[in-house]
Amino acid sequence: MKFFVKTFGCQMNEHDSEIIAGVMASAGYQQAEDIGGADIVIVNTCCIRESAENKIWGFIGNLKNLKDHKPGMILAVVGCMMQQNTIGEMLHRRGRHLDIVLGTYQQHRLPEYVSRILAGEKQIVDISEDNRDFPDSLPTMRVNDLSAQVNIMYGCNNFCSYCIVPYVRGRERSRDFGAILAEVRELAAAGVREVMLLGQNVNSYGKDLRRATPDADVPDFAAVLRAVSEIEGIERIRYMSSHPRDFSAELADVIATLPKVRAYCHLPLQSGSDRVLRAMNRGYDTAAYYAILERIRRHTPDVVITTDLIVGFPGETGEEFAETLDFVAKCRFDAAYTFLYSPRSGTPAARMDGQIAEREKKERLARLTAVQNAVSLDINRGYIGRTVDVLVEGPSKNNPDLMTGRTPGNKIVICRGDMGMVGQTLPLTITEAKTWHLEAL
Ligand code: SAH
Ligand code: SF4
Ligand code: F3S
Repeated sequence: MKFFVKTFGCQMNEHDSEIIAGVMASAGYQQAEDIGGADIVIVNTCCIRESAENKIWGFIGNLKNLKDHKPGMILAVVGCMMQQNTIGEMLHRRGRHLDIVLGTYQQHRLPEYVSRILAGEKQIVDISEDNRDFPDSLPTMRVNDLSAQVNIMYGCNNFCSYCIVPYVRGRERSRDFGAILAEVRELAAAGVREVMLLGQNVNSYGKDLRRATPDADVPDFAAVLRAVSEIEGIERIRYMSSHPRDFSAELADVIATLPKVRAYCHLPLQSGSDRVLRAMNRGYDTAAYYAILERIRRHTPDVVITTDLIVGFPGETGEEFAETLDFVAKCRFDAAYTFLYSPRSGTPAARMDGQIAEREKKERLARLTAVQNAVSLDINRGYIGRTVDVLVEGPSKNNPDLMTGRTPGNKIVICRGDMGMVGQTLPLTITEAKTWHLEAL
C-alpha cells in the first residue's frame, strides 16, 4: 500500500511530516508520487491563522470526493489543528469522513492505527497529550539531502497572547542531548551540510530538564550550538526560532565564536510598539530588542537578521503602527515575514477589545511591506561586487537552466552551473540584487 503526506504549516510541521513518512516506510508502506496514487492520504495541519485553517478544510473537503470514488482509501488528518479544544465539534460538522485523527503527540503511532482501520475499525481519534513513552529518535524520510531539520525542543511555554501554539503543542520539552548529537552525526556522515535546529523557543533548551534534575549538569542552548559545531562535515548551523526575551548577551557572545552559526539569526520582533509588545505578552521592549541586535552586529557586522511581524493586533492604534514602521526601518532587517493578526479561539487576544477591521489590517500590511522591501533591497545591493560562499542546492525553480544556492547568511543566490555543482560551496561574485534574492550571473 502507498501513502502520501500533504503538509501545511511551519518548519516543525514539515519535519513532523518527514518523521510520519519515516515511520510509515519503516512499517512497510511505500511513498506515492502524488495523491492520486495513494491508498493512504495523510494531511498534516496548521492552525496558526484562520486563513490556514480555511485552506485546510477546503483541501480535506476535496479529499472526501476522492474517497467517494476510491472506496478503501484511508484518510488520516494529523497535527496542530486536530489538537484544538474545538476538535470534537469540528469533526462532527466537517470530519465524519476522516478515518484517523491524531494530534501533535501521537503521530508516530500512525502505522498502528492504519492497521486497525484495515482490520475494520471505524474512525479512530487520538488527541491524547500523554507522551511519556515518546521515543528519543524516530525513523525519518528526509526531503532534502543537503540541509536537514533536527528537533531540539517540543512545545512552548510563552503564551504570547495571540498564539495558539502552546495550546496545540503543549509545554516545553527538551530533547535528549545525546539523541540530538547522534542524529546530527549520522546526518553529517550521510553528506548533509546544513542543519536547522528546531524548536518554538530554542533558547529555552534544557530548562525543563534542569527543573526535573536540579543537581545534574544539564546543557543549555549554547552548549547544543557548541557541540553541534564540533561535528565535522556540517558547515552551517541554523536555529529557529529564538525568543528575544531569552536571547541573553552571553548567548550572543557565544554565537559570535561559532563560525558555522553566526552568519544568520531569525529573531521575531512582532511589533515596534512597547504597549503592543506588552499586550502580546512578549516579555521585552523595543530597547531590549535593539540591544540584542547591536550586540549581535558588534561581533558579526554582516550577520543576516530576519524577523516576524504582526499587524493589526487588537487595539493597535495608528500611532502604534507608525512606531512599528519607524522601528522596523531602524532595525534594518534583511527580511521580515509579515502577518495580519488573526484571532485564534481560546487565546487571550481573541477576546480583547479593539479588534481591527480586515481592510485596515491589509492597508497596514501593505505599508509595512513597502518599508521592509526598501530596506531588504538596499541591504542586498550592498552585496554587488562582493564574493560570497554559496552552497549550491540545485536547479532554480523559476529557470531550470540556472542553479540556486545560499550564502552563509541564508540569502538565495541564483547562479550559472550544472548539477555537478550541487553540494559544493563555491566563492561567487554577486552581480545583481533583488528584494528577495541575489544573482551571480
Ligand atoms: N515560536 C515562534 C513562532 C511560531 S509562529 C516564535 O515565537 O518566533 C510564526 C509566526 O506566526 C509568529 O512569529 C507570529 O509572527 C505569527 N503568528 C502567530 N500567531 C499569529 C496570529 N494569531 N495572527 C497572526 N500571526 C500570528
Ligand atoms: Fe507562539 Fe509565542 Fe510560543 Fe512563538 S513563543 S510559539 S509566538 S507562544
Ligand atoms: Fe507550526 Fe502551524 Fe502548528 S505554524 S506549530 S504547524 S499551528
